[in-house]
Amino acid sequence: MSKSESVTGCGRGARPRVIGPVLAATLCLGASACAGTPGADPVAASAAQAGSQAQIDPQSWPALASPMPVDDAIETRIAGLLRSMSVADKVGQLVQADIGSITPEQAAQYRLGSVLAGGNSAPDGKAYATAEEWLALADAYHAALAVPGESGVAIPLLFGIDAVHGHNNVIGATLFPHNIGLGAGRNPDLVGRIAEATAREIRATGMEWTFAPTLAVPRDLRWGRTYEGYGQDPALVASFAAAVVEGLQGALGAEDFLAGHRVLAGAKHFLGDGGTVDGKDQGDARLDERTLVAVHGAGYPPALAAGVQTVMASFSSWNGEKIHGHHGLLTTALRERMGFDGFVVGDWNGHGQVPGCSNVDCPQSLIAGLDMYMAPDSWQGLFENLLAQAKSGAIPPARLDEAVARILRVKLRLGLFEAPAPSQRPLGGRFDLIGHADHRALARQAVRESLVMLKNAGGLLPLSPGQRILVAGDGADDIARQSGGWTLTWQGTGTRRADFPGATSIWEGIRADVEAAGGRAELAPDGRHAERPDVAIVVIGEEPYAEFQGDLATLAYRPGDDRDLALIRRLRAEGIPVVTVFLSGRPLWLNREINASDAFVAAWLPGSEGAGIADVLLRGADGGIRHPLRGRLSFAWPRTPTPVFDGPGGLDADPLFPIGHGLGFDDDGDLPILDESSELVAPGAEAGIFVVRGAPVPGWRWQVGGGESWTALGTDDASAGVGAQRTDHAAQEDALRLTWHDAGAVLALQGDQPVDLRRETNGDVDLLLTLRLDRARPARVGLGCGEACAGWLDWPAAVLPGGAWHQVAISLKCFESAGVDPGRIETMLALDAPASTVLSLSRVELGTGSGARIDCR
Ligand code: BGC
Ligand code: BGC
Repeated sequence: MSKSESVTGCGRGARPRVIGPVLAATLCLGASACAGTPGADPVAASAAQAGSQAQIDPQSWPALASPMPVDDAIETRIAGLLRSMSVADKVGQLVQADIGSITPEQAAQYRLGSVLAGGNSAPDGKAYATAEEWLALADAYHAALAVPGESGVAIPLLFGIDAVHGHNNVIGATLFPHNIGLGAGRNPDLVGRIAEATAREIRATGMEWTFAPTLAVPRDLRWGRTYEGYGQDPALVASFAAAVVEGLQGALGAEDFLAGHRVLAGAKHFLGDGGTVDGKDQGDARLDERTLVAVHGAGYPPALAAGVQTVMASFSSWNGEKIHGHHGLLTTALRERMGFDGFVVGDWNGHGQVPGCSNVDCPQSLIAGLDMYMAPDSWQGLFENLLAQAKSGAIPPARLDEAVARILRVKLRLGLFEAPAPSQRPLGGRFDLIGHADHRALARQAVRESLVMLKNAGGLLPLSPGQRILVAGDGADDIARQSGGWTLTWQGTGTRRADFPGATSIWEGIRADVEAAGGRAELAPDGRHAERPDVAIVVIGEEPYAEFQGDLATLAYRPGDDRDLALIRRLRAEGIPVVTVFLSGRPLWLNREINASDAFVAAWLPGSEGAGIADVLLRGADGGIRHPLRGRLSFAWPRTPTPVFDGPGGLDADPLFPIGHGLGFDDDGDLPILDESSELVAPGAEAGIFVVRGAPVPGWRWQVGGGESWTALGTDDASAGVGAQRTDHAAQEDALRLTWHDAGAVLALQGDQPVDLRRETNGDVDLLLTLRLDRARPARVGLGCGEACAGWLDWPAAVLPGGAWHQVAISLKCFESAGVDPGRIETMLALDAPASTVLSLSRVELGTGSGARIDCR
């Protein structure tokens, strides 16, 4: 019998369903709860106020029990703590703030249960930071919370972080391949060792909890988080789940379970995150219960059996009901049926998406079964409201105590109460572990095992290193590109080479082997070689992205931009055989590039150890094969840019290459010519880009005017208020030069349809303008949401030096604070400037800026 049942047993009223004698003390944890509601069933009653009334069929879910025996000493301590804690202390445990929006002093003042470092948050407001800086911050939080609060209780907080492919927020950490590559490698033992190495790097910097593993089973490749999943095959995901959890936490029953070199794991995102309609991030999974359990739930039973201590609720919905308010899934399925006795944490303001909720007000989630709210920037308002709701009884005391008990239980299991400051713990301050050679060796092995060869005409691969090898393509010498999203920054963008000490690019790995073997290697990203090569390796692929920023409309690779294709074709036209290495977070449609290449290898997002690619693609100096090609697709490869995901459980029913496909060096690697015909999508039809080369993408148009009267932007026509001419940015006439003739004239980018930017605003996405101030500067920049609905920000004097091109970032949150409704943006950009202002503009898009910024804080 699991403790969870003993605890809920209290709330369930009259007759406790449990238990041994010692637990009598904990049964009425919050004796007030039991006493205050005689005969009632507060949990069930309050489910009526929960976000979702949707029922589940408990019988459809695996019947499991917690694998951890009840620890009487821990339960007694929980009961004692609950007796000493004030209501405010308890509410504090339920709230997790982001380090970017709180200080250690505030965390102590509010007695918060946890802090996290979101993808864009680092110590001291930096974009990213060193191991030393992270450890100092962890120590500061520990010290602040070590001083008891008013009630005399001191409860240490948990510091959580997204270490999802290694400890990826820390400069110099080992960056393992993203999960899609590990899935192709199909080596659970290696995945477990990677998780263990990651835990050690995390502990060196003082955190004790990672939001991993992702157990999503991504079905539709358009989903921007496809690469965070191991594969589309539920059995494959299930085969990794226990290994990762054990690597992070230690094996249940082993002496080092949750010991000082291990961390808490967090299985996510429960449930159905990979099954949303059209692969839309945070969307709706419209599925029957069997598919939800059998496909998307496949990783959870083994993770739970391995003792995973936390589970993160999914942003998404199931059949229209947000998981953050879903009592059936969070309570009936996960804890009652599957015996989960750790705690459920929310996702980044995910509670705010439950109908009737806001980021600062959502008792519905707690009542539905969420234990800890991820309230990054909303923690303070949320705390105040939860406190009022707990005091008024709107939150049943039994539920409050149960959630707190779960959080305390995990902290006690981790030994957090006894642990000294993070820097004084077993691995605290062991900075030699960050990017340790042993960890890099594991990562390099994982890179080797992840490579999937799809074409090898005439047995071109592996190459002899003694030849002249040209390395081309813009991915060849770019660590950020080969590492993808969740790399130092949330989107993995805005970093420099110097931020990756110890890492090796793909080019660097090839060069080292070629030079050692007496061959000649040349790097020329554009393929313009100085010396005629015998063979070329062309490394191309997707730019980094994370979450919904990576959602696609179609699976066409770089629609409207054929530079990579032209590069491959040009080399082939010179008679140079081409090996294409493709970096991506998912299979994409690039039949033309595959046709044009002699060999084609999918390398996914290999991370910091780019040399793993040369290990496989190049022979040894003695001419022998050094490593076999072992990788097999864990995702089906699409035949067209617009596959239909209507196979069993939402799979692509007619892929070009099925799951499990992958050539070895001994296989016949010739491919028939693949179909190249397809409706190629125009640039910008992808989400998040609105103006390219000065021109609005379909659905958007430039307008000039003010108030009621608007006209289309024309050539330099003084009567219109603002006029435009073509000018050069990166290429000839690829930008607009805009001149304001009248003070008060507004230039606006108007959409045919309102767009909903609530996800982007919550995610701190920026509006990015690529522009040059030629004369003077705008007075204001705004977003509009229809008539008399706008958010304007002043354009500060000092933001940009004039006369040079810059990218300016403005957080969407700033426009929201200024009054725009992010749910219905009709004007994606409005600029208001004094007469005779001149500026040139080439791009308007959403993303994460790293340079100039217009700030509102
Ligand atoms: C993501 C989670 C992540 C969390 C914290 C969310 O937006 O969905 O996977 O753990 O942010 O960064
Ligand atoms: C955070 C990420 C988070 C995302 C939520 C970003 O600002 O840095 O950690 O996952 O917002 O959408």
